[in-house]
Amino acid sequence: MSVESLVRPDIAGMEEYTPILPFEVLSAQLGIPEGALVKIDANENPYGPSPAVWDAVAAARLHIYPDPESRYLREALVDYAGVPFEYIMAGAGADELIDLLFRALIMPGDVIINCPPTFGMYSFDGALGGARVVEVWRLGDFAPDVPAIETAAHATGAKLLVLCSPNNPDGSLLALETLDRLLRLPLVVLLDEAYVEFSGTPGYIARVPDAPNLVVLRTFSKWAGLAGLRVGYGAFPLWLMKHLWKIKQPYNVNVAAAAAARASLADRDTLRANVEKIVLERARLYRALAEIDYLHPYPSRSNFVLCRVEGGRDAKALKRALAARGVLVRYFDKPGLRNHIRVSAGKPEHTDALLAALKEL
Ligand SMILES: Cc1ncc(COP(=O)(O)O)c(C=O)c1O
Repeated sequence: MSVESLVRPDIAGMEEYTPILPFEVLSAQLGIPEGALVKIDANENPYGPSPAVWDAVAAARLHIYPDPESRYLREALVDYAGVPFEYIMAGAGADELIDLLFRALIMPGDVIINCPPTFGMYSFDGALGGARVVEVWRLGDFAPDVPAIETAAHATGAKLLVLCSPNNPDGSLLALETLDRLLRLPLVVLLDEAYVEFSGTPGYIARVPDAPNLVVLRTFSKWAGLAGLRVGYGAFPLWLMKHLWKIKQPYNVNVAAAAAARASLADRDTLRANVEKIVLERARLYRALAEIDYLHPYPSRSNFVLCRVEGGRDAKALKRALAARGVLVRYFDKPGLRNHIRVSAGKPEHTDALLAALKEL
């Protein structure tokens, strides 16, 4: 017997991991200094954290284990999110909470309904948990296909439906009537609101206490510029919370991340001003991309703009040509999202650099 055969067969059969290249490595590969790279490929916040974060992290007691219940952070979130304390759990990014929810609900063979094109972690975590991930494709305007979701839910006995609003990668919002209708299904609806602060809407998190099957996830990665510290939170029905507390890693939110998140909430006006700048830049980016004859941008309520690449041009080649000029964008070429690029809204100078590079091509 080879020791390799000890690996779970479903994990052994998974595709090899392709790491995302860190900034320093990309810079070395492209031969372009880090400071000259325009990173508009991962929807990060170009303004970075609130200045208050530096002092908060410096004062954090890094030699002491964190509070397993993240009490102070959750108390600060009550007012920000409009949800009572006992419904809130913090995590090492929204990603950890997606994983945690899946682990609480999904046994091998259980069904999850996913609505691509959307954020990749849902199908990844589903596969890892041995779920059968049923894909109900979004419609032409990226709205979820409600009748098809209902049919799939009834036909499969799915336990979980995953939705994202604004949806990554297109930036479309979930309509309230759609959410209300889908909440009537006998399953848990996971709604990922990682980008809600850019949408100009309050989102749906405050509905959690009144909806027995709604979970809403949020993050500090985007609006608060803390992607590198890994901190997010979710609102969960109380029947689910009691199980999540049992299976959560005790020290999932580290001391620096919790301190930074609290400082961000205390300085939310500064961060909201940055969000407004990004939203203005998104509008400018959309208009500029629409003027390029081989790009078809979609309207977005998030901090990125998805574009179909047309006119016989290849999105991957476009991404490479832009990278060679120091401008990093994301490209997609998969079923349902053939030949697209996604560009994060950055600072005005980032849009300028993108447009200058596009002009050269
Ligand atoms: C839709 C969506 N949800 C969650 C995340 C991850 O959030 P976090 O950094 O809090 O893990 C991302 C990150 O890109 C995302 O696009």
